[in-house]
Amino acid sequence: MKKSIVICMGSSCFARGNREHLELIENYLHGNGIAADIHFSGCRCRNECGRGPNIEINGNLHHQIDTGTLLDLLEYYFAGVMHGT
Ligand code: FES
Repeated sequence: MKKSIVICMGSSCFARGNREHLELIENYLHGNGIAADIHFSGCRCRNECGRGPNIEINGNLHHQIDTGTLLDLLEYYFAGVMHGT
């Protein structure tokens, strides 16, 4: 499966946490040496503001992300990448 993260950069999601999440994800990918393995991009508002902040990982859209859930999700999806599985 293609490994990817798409962070919503729309004004609502951005103001409600994705500004910090953007930096957190970049630090995570670079800190773990997996930035080249995962396609990280941003998108415009996807009309899901009421359930934001939204981040899509490997095609699954996750809602109401906060720092703790984001770290859990990154571990869930990508811990295997670091270990070559
Ligand atoms: S700003 Fe993210 S869904 Fe609207």
